[in-house]
Amino acid sequence: MTVRVLTGITTTGTPHLGNYVGAIRPAIAASRRSDVESFLFMADYHALVKCDDPARVEESRLALAATWLAAGLDPERVVFYRQSDIPEIPELNWLLTCVTPKGLMNRAHAYKAAADANQASREDVDAGITMGLFSYPILMAADILMFNAHQVPVGRDQVQHIEMARDIAQRFNHLFGQGREHFVPPEAVVDEEVAMLPGLDGRKMSKSYDNTIPLFEGGAKGLKEAIARVVTDSRLPGEPKDPDGSHLVTLYEAFADAQERAKFRADLKGGLGWGDAKQRVAERIERDLAPMRARYAELMAHPEQVEEILLDGARKARAIAAPFLAQLREAVGLRRMVAVAGAAPVAAAKAKAALPVFKQYRESDGRFYFKLVAADGRLLLQSQGFGEGREAGQWVARLKRDGAVALAEAPIERGDGVSEGDVAQALAMFAAA
Ligand code: TRP
Repeated sequence: MTVRVLTGITTTGTPHLGNYVGAIRPAIAASRRSDVESFLFMADYHALVKCDDPARVEESRLALAATWLAAGLDPERVVFYRQSDIPEIPELNWLLTCVTPKGLMNRAHAYKAAADANQASREDVDAGITMGLFSYPILMAADILMFNAHQVPVGRDQVQHIEMARDIAQRFNHLFGQGREHFVPPEAVVDEEVAMLPGLDGRKMSKSYDNTIPLFEGGAKGLKEAIARVVTDSRLPGEPKDPDGSHLVTLYEAFADAQERAKFRADLKGGLGWGDAKQRVAERIERDLAPMRARYAELMAHPEQVEEILLDGARKARAIAAPFLAQLREAVGLRRMVAVAGAAPVAAAKAKAALPVFKQYRESDGRFYFKLVAADGRLLLQSQGFGEGREAGQWVARLKRDGAVALAEAPIERGDGVSEGDVAQALAMFAAA
């Protein structure tokens, strides 16, 4: 089975070199593995919780998408989309909101920190706290559960949110599952190995410490100037230097291969001056960044290309989200109204008779097919041809068992005028029967 991995990036600010080494580069490397199915999205609804400046929201969405694409994200391999292009997410958010205990949200770190700060300064506990901040973890649960991600790579600060998503998933399954697990409880994956890049002053590189090195802004010159400001000790050229305590070495090693590393260390021990060392670090990093920066500039100059890529990603994401949401609506009772004739026992019999049917058959081309036909004779689904009858049978069994979840992968086409929701509801009837 392939593992489904999903991550969101809140679209505020622009990424720096630390974000590249700590998050962007490893995520792109992971997305190239063939045994994973990757989902990566711009969490722009989440950005609204933190930022009420429309111009900044707009800028940051474009800059982030362009950065990830320039850094090598392949939108053919990764489902790459904007949260706000998937209307199923806010709808799921509401279904989940209705099963989430308020007490669970009271314990969320971000809300608690804000409430505690208010109390410490003798303000009203809820001063300045929006419902967006309070309910933030539910929207995050919707992001994850919408695609039934197995694994969610996150920083340590987000682990609590993933645990909340698990709780919410289990609660929903328990209330509406009727023996069926709608949601897979997701798992947080915290990479302990992840390189923590030091900033100019040696502390973790972070906007809040104002010690960042820009990723693309300022060009090669900006990079060189920033690296010139990295703090070193005061040893003079010619004096041997200790590579182990040096932030400059850590920076270099985040980009260099084993051979380059060994040489740099040996040269420092042999008395290489800090000025020359910095020059070498800047050149080494620039070698990796230059082609990406060029691509970034190209994308920033053509936002319509980024838009197109993201809309394409949204189409792929919605092909999964829409039928799954139809199944969930069905589960909570938001169902289509249908005629019920006669007394109760008769109605039950009729309901049974009203089940859609799968028909399996062989065509004159010698291939095996199946189709799903509604009780009223309408063609809902038509499969492609299979070499073996068994394959067709396996798909039918899977669609009956997994319902809409299997739909996105099944080699089928919908009948004329049939929506994804119609099919999902028909499939949900098998599960309920
Ligand atoms: N809250 C996350 C952050 O600030 C971003 C995010 C939103 C996210 N939805 C998600 C991360 C779903 C993983 C899965 O970093």
